[in-house]
Amino acid sequence: MDVVISPSILSADFMNLERELARIAAADMVHVDVMDNHFVPNLTLGLPVVEKIVRVAPVPVDTHLMIEDPDRWAPGFAEAGAASVTFHAEAARAPVRLARELRRLGARAGLALRPATPVEPFVDLLPEIDMLLVMTVEPGFGGQAFLDVTLPKIRRARRAVEEAGLDVWVQVDGGVSAETVERAADAGANVFVAGSAVYGADDAAGAIGELRCLAAGAHAHRSR
Ligand code: DX5
Ligand code: ZN
Repeated sequence: MDVVISPSILSADFMNLERELARIAAADMVHVDVMDNHFVPNLTLGLPVVEKIVRVAPVPVDTHLMIEDPDRWAPGFAEAGAASVTFHAEAARAPVRLARELRRLGARAGLALRPATPVEPFVDLLPEIDMLLVMTVEPGFGGQAFLDVTLPKIRRARRAVEEAGLDVWVQVDGGVSAETVERAADAGANVFVAGSAVYGADDAAGAIGELRCLAAGAHAHRSR
């Protein structure tokens, strides 16, 4: 299982985004949180800013759309050049149609689940997606504590992916740090979003390397 580290710019200095993006060149992707103040009680940035980020980011862009009506808005992020576009299961009206459209536009399609959304209803959809995002906090804000109650769902998600014989990535987002990354990796996550743990560190590259190392170690000794 490949370890993918995707720092979230939600904890970056928005006044100096280009410089902040350069700090995480050692990562595999950069996680961009799009919030519309409806799906979540917070507002961040939208398509025009993502278009600019795609042009200067040193790594592929991983967009996380915490928005209503992704059926209408998500394809624009794929057209803008985002490598991965993740929409929420709770917000999408036609997730299969949307995932197919994202793939047709050349992006990886991601499906996100809030902490209280079960994975079971979506297991049959796994062949249609490239990544399942199991939120490990209630979406909306950076700097929240990792919710251990999501660990069994991560484990069930990974098991479902394995049973289907697929290469769907399992992403965790929220409260991921050197203290929690091994628990998530042991449960079966392989894509790790970290906002405050990376951008709050003086040495962002060092923080990325530490997360990568801890996750890989946990994968090597994984319990099933
Ligand atoms: C929260 C966002 C996360 C956020 C994570 O809703 O989806 O990507 O940036 O921040 P940390 O890593 O600080 O919990
Ligand atoms: Zn996110």
